[in-house]
Amino acid sequence: MAANNVALVTGGNGGIGSAITRRLVSDGFRVIVAYSPAEESAAQKWYRAEEYSEKDVILLPMDVTDTNGCERSINKILATEKYIDVLVNNAGITRDAAFKKMSASQWVDVINVNINSLFNVTRPLFPAMCERGYGRIINISSVNGLKGQFGQVNYSTSKAGVIGFTKALAAEGAKVGVTVNAIAPGYTGTPMVEAMKPDVLAAITEEIPVRRLATPDEIAAAVSFLASREAAYITGETLSVNGGLYMR
Ligand code: CAA
Repeated sequence: MAANNVALVTGGNGGIGSAITRRLVSDGFRVIVAYSPAEESAAQKWYRAEEYSEKDVILLPMDVTDTNGCERSINKILATEKYIDVLVNNAGITRDAAFKKMSASQWVDVINVNINSLFNVTRPLFPAMCERGYGRIINISSVNGLKGQFGQVNYSTSKAGVIGFTKALAAEGAKVGVTVNAIAPGYTGTPMVEAMKPDVLAAITEEIPVRRLATPDEIAAAVSFLASREAAYITGETLSVNGGLYMR
């Protein structure tokens, strides 16, 4: 079956997402970058700064928390692109607070963006991948979904959920050539991590055996591998890229 070489990356203009987009473009994919409509001007600015053209990257405003909106957007893309080879569910947020102080909106926002998005974006794409007999779905989890993190009951819950979603969907896609895997990045040099209090981040960095943050490119390299045809026999797996911070 001929490759179409189209990838959809949610949050593909963000901290890790930008590096994933750049890497998939250099691997020969045309990348549809789904960005939050609330970040319209930042997304346009990013596109210009990266000097992309429509043959490399297409910007798609899509609120990943809006079930009907995602279905409409994705059906429109499928009508023009025919196939999406690779889906990277990367969009994610943090709303850190000690659980005692966590508000309902901090809980709900994280669950909506980090978990409900998986249904909203993957559900309209998965049947087409199965019918075609090819697909690569890569979900971005986190070291903190594996080990738990003080101040992140919401985020750790969501990122652990990403792994359950990955394994269950992998079971459904396996016999028709659709692989579903997760990547669990450690602390990575992005605005999300840089927003942490410097003393808290310094204390965490000291515990990382490699003694530094990951670069976004190091996460993107793992995505590139799982998105490749060579990764056909890997499914339901969670690949940790965490500098040894948490070893299972
Ligand atoms: N374990 C146990 N206790 C801890 C703790 C820890 N890791 N961290 C803090 N505490 C304790 C403190 O000692 C303090 O105790 P006392 O009240 O007895 O003095 C209490 O908890 C409150 O701590 P803070 O002063 O830090 O509380 P705060 O309200 O100012 O801040 C917080 C809370 C924002 C959650 C802050 O602790 C924090 O930023 N924690 C780290 C969260 C984190 O790792 N976020 C990762 C973001 S990046 C990301 O998520 C990407 C990815 O995938 C890795």
